[in-house]
Amino acid sequence: MTLATAPGKLILCGEHAVVYGRPAIALPLSGVRARASVDPGPPGSGIRLHAPALGRSWSLAEAPDDPFSELVAALVARCSPACAPDFEVVITSDIPIASGMGSGAAIATALVRAVAGHLGAELSAAEISALVYGSERRFHGTPSGIDNTVVAFERAVWFVRTKNRERENSEPENRERENSEPENRGRENREPGEQGGSGFSLLGSATVEPVAIGAPLTLLIGDSGVRSETRLPVGEVRRRWAAEPARYEALFDAVGAVVARVRAALASGDRAELGRLLDENQALLQEIGVSSPELDRLVAAARGAGALGAKLSGAGWGGVMIALVDDERREAVRAALLEAGAARVLETVVA
Ligand code: MEV
Repeated sequence: MTLATAPGKLILCGEHAVVYGRPAIALPLSGVRARASVDPGPPGSGIRLHAPALGRSWSLAEAPDDPFSELVAALVARCSPACAPDFEVVITSDIPIASGMGSGAAIATALVRAVAGHLGAELSAAEISALVYGSERRFHGTPSGIDNTVVAFERAVWFVRTKNRERENSEPENRERENSEPENRGRENREPGEQGGSGFSLLGSATVEPVAIGAPLTLLIGDSGVRSETRLPVGEVRRRWAAEPARYEALFDAVGAVVARVRAALASGDRAELGRLLDENQALLQEIGVSSPELDRLVAAARGAGALGAKLSGAGWGGVMIALVDDERREAVRAALLEAGAARVLETVVA
């Protein structure tokens, strides 16, 4: 059997604006993971996938258009083009679906790692990230690429979606369409790496840099218990941006400025400043229209119990929020979140 895992993720700041070319910071959640195991199947049985938690079991032949089937088919074509392998994959995950913790990217990453391992192929984190991005596109339409990146690299990342260099060589009619893509419109003068810092990798259409953490930080993660598919708020933000581009571009610029200050506060270990910035980001997310009464209630409860700052994390309308806490207030904030209706409270230390 070949077994592989992948972590969940948290967006610390910058969600939604990151789809439109502004920076965001994401953290891996190593304590909650998706797993995939691959066993050889009888000759001629083809490829089968089982996801017991989803109540799903299917073969590639039966469901070739399923995004995970397509991912496995792409991988087989890449790693083992000459043969038609027979194997069974079982997918499990600790990460609640549609919770803002990157369940889809984690499952796809574990799947890619396990299948590649089974086929004897060694893929770099960048290759895995690129393959998973393809399946994220199938689920979400216009993902920025931050989820697959933080999950595949499993480290804190500063991420900026940039114009795809390959597009510059594309046909004029394609260029016209691409100029209406969120990350391109109004961003013609921005170049990869423009935000500064020393890049450790430029992944085709994104600048990805490590994030320095000056002092360990404890985050509590409050799950609203409301499940919300990423594509719904992302689609709504796109409609609003198309209807009021100037207003939304200004909101995204404001988010980008907060994210740059978060990076500096992380590097200097200034927790008080970081808390204030998380609050500022939450106010902007409310204006963008992706918070919810449940998330607002949890954010208010965390602040009321002494959190240094709190905001929703991920696409919003449901899923999780995060609260930055110090050791003295941690248990009080946890209790307040549960009292305010959190379905569960997780904890992660960013170090
Ligand atoms: C989802 O984790 C983060 C969003 O910004 C969408 C994306 O970046 O693809 C809401």
